[in-house]
Amino acid sequence: MPFYHKLGSIPHKRHTQFRKLNGTLYYEQLFGTIGFDGMSTNSYHEQRPTQVKAIIKQYSVAPKIAKANNIQSYRFRGFQVKPETDFLESRKTVLVNSDCAIILAAPQQSTNDYFYKNTDADELIFIHKGSGKLRTHLGNLNFKYGDYLLIPRGIIYKIDFDTEDNRLFIVESHRPIYTPKRYRNWFGQLLEHAPFCERDIRRPEELETYNETGDFLMKVKKQGEIIEMVYATHPFDVVGYDGYNYPYAFSIHDFEPITGRVHQPPPVHQTFETDAFVVCSFVPRLYDYHPQAIPAPYNHSNIDSDEVLYYVDGDFMSRNDIEAGHISLHPAGIPHGPHPGATERSLGKTETEELAVMVDTFKPLMVTEEAMKIADEDYYKSWLE
Ligand SMILES: [Fe+2]
Repeated sequence: MPFYHKLGSIPHKRHTQFRKLNGTLYYEQLFGTIGFDGMSTNSYHEQRPTQVKAIIKQYSVAPKIAKANNIQSYRFRGFQVKPETDFLESRKTVLVNSDCAIILAAPQQSTNDYFYKNTDADELIFIHKGSGKLRTHLGNLNFKYGDYLLIPRGIIYKIDFDTEDNRLFIVESHRPIYTPKRYRNWFGQLLEHAPFCERDIRRPEELETYNETGDFLMKVKKQGEIIEMVYATHPFDVVGYDGYNYPYAFSIHDFEPITGRVHQPPPVHQTFETDAFVVCSFVPRLYDYHPQAIPAPYNHSNIDSDEVLYYVDGDFMSRNDIEAGHISLHPAGIPHGPHPGATERSLGKTETEELAVMVDTFKPLMVTEEAMKIADEDYYKSWLE
């Protein structure tokens, strides 16, 4: 996150002696990205963060591809993904390319007996249903319906849910996820025309510190596999840190929509960017106010990006027969647009209550076997008159 954050106790100068009450040294760790050029955090640990005791096993969790080269529009019924007790096992990749994976999950239980980290992808977790607390080695974040949780790669975390009824829409990104550059000035501050500002971004304010030794199971995701390792010290042993690289939360309900006299294009909804895809938030807003305006979108060809819309809540004006939890996939190379009747239905409407998350990828997405289990195979014919 491109603004500075400090939590807990840190020494006045970097890379200087920082001692515990008993006179021994804390262990400093630089936690950085893009070599030493990206965002980084300096953290101070009770124990060496390097004490691997055993590597138990590793196994593939790579998605099985059903359709590698896809030009068919699909609808997927996301809520048909079955709830599962374990957080990691509940995650079902539905769409994937070499830059990102789009995942649906309905976990019922908190991660009680292990820690988790994704070493090669940032994770963006959108909370569709459920609430709880994301606990990380750099502090905790409470979450509820509508929150995006941005967990940079390498952050060690656990996730606690308040109930068993949880629905998550997750994007794993091999490219770092940032807020859009065009909304930031040359110092990184969000500008006046941005649809959100620093006040909307929730940083960790609660730090759990355990100075414990023993056997601590860590499940590490790397290159499509989970590697189970045992650490000799509690992974949450940070007494303080500062820097720019930390998890944060942003609520879709804090996204301020940008509207106009005529239809505004999808980039006005942009919330996050990478160099491989963008994430947009469609939120309740007033419609276009030109007297002859057509609030429904026009037909459009995403010639060079696949468009994924995850429907969260409200009424989806441009689509017929779409419910919460559905995903539409409109692949690159062919046009799509409002369903028959949707354009006429939109005339004279003054506002929408729709809530949706869109992911537009610049490389084509492959459709997985998990996706085919919940696919509407006839959706691509839904524009026929
Ligand atoms: Fe579209």
